[in-house]
Amino acid sequence: MSKSGAKDSIYNTPKDMIVDFVFDKSVAHVFPDMIRRSVPGYDNLIPLLGIIAEKFVTANSNIYDLGCSLGASSLSIRRRLNVEGCQIIAIDNAEAMVEQCRENMQNDEHSTIPVDVICGDILNCNISNARLAILNFTLQFIEPDKRLELLSKIASGMNQGGALILSEKIISDDIDEQNLIEELQLNFKSANGYSDLEISQKRSALDNVLIPDNLATHKQRLLDAGFSKVIVWQQCLNFISIIAIK
Ligand SMILES: C[S@@+](CC[C@H](N)C(=O)[O-])C[C@H]1O[C@@H](n2cnc3c(N)ncnc32)[C@H](O)[C@@H]1O
Repeated sequence: MSKSGAKDSIYNTPKDMIVDFVFDKSVAHVFPDMIRRSVPGYDNLIPLLGIIAEKFVTANSNIYDLGCSLGASSLSIRRRLNVEGCQIIAIDNAEAMVEQCRENMQNDEHSTIPVDVICGDILNCNISNARLAILNFTLQFIEPDKRLELLSKIASGMNQGGALILSEKIISDDIDEQNLIEELQLNFKSANGYSDLEISQKRSALDNVLIPDNLATHKQRLLDAGFSKVIVWQQCLNFISIIAIK
């Protein structure tokens, strides 16, 4: 997906000071490799988004890809969908991501579904006439006290029978479960070629930035936001994906 298909080596040398993780140019450059090697289940999840879209998207409706990064979800959806008059609105507030995402959409010749790639804050965007919204590993980067407001806005702008796909890293309140699953995720990263140094430096960088919730919190918040049915359709270690239906 990235133009270069570049390997993530951002944290492979010792850093004097670990600063908070940002989605800047260096991250955009290696992002497909970074997310695939860090998030168990990501490679399985992306193609299934297109299949889920086919189930929920109806003619003349909007699809929102919120926190789109380089557009992997939008690409999966537009390659699969064959529905009249729908459009994808892909939003991200990281300029470097948006720039590369626009290029990826322009280079995609698999579909004529229009994609409007917008550089902006998903907390400020309008949602209307939606049949599908995607928050693929994005809500975890939103301040916790703004999460319900964002989900409520998505639910309000969604047509009856439409769906939100919410993918997140989760934590468990059961300490044994938490320790085991977290250890397995670290082993997943090691098995994908990350060194102990890379793993620990990246972890420190994400500490204040990626704030995971437990599954019960996600489920209740989606119901509170106005969704009527909440279904976990994929879990791979500590990464889940949920379909929330309005
Ligand atoms: C882990 S990435 C998402 C991955 C992407 N959805 C995918 O499936 O490949 C999180 C993205 O959310 C974006 N983001 C975080 N907070 C945001 C906000 N308030 N508004 C818009 N985008 C945001 C980041 O810039 C980043 O590109």
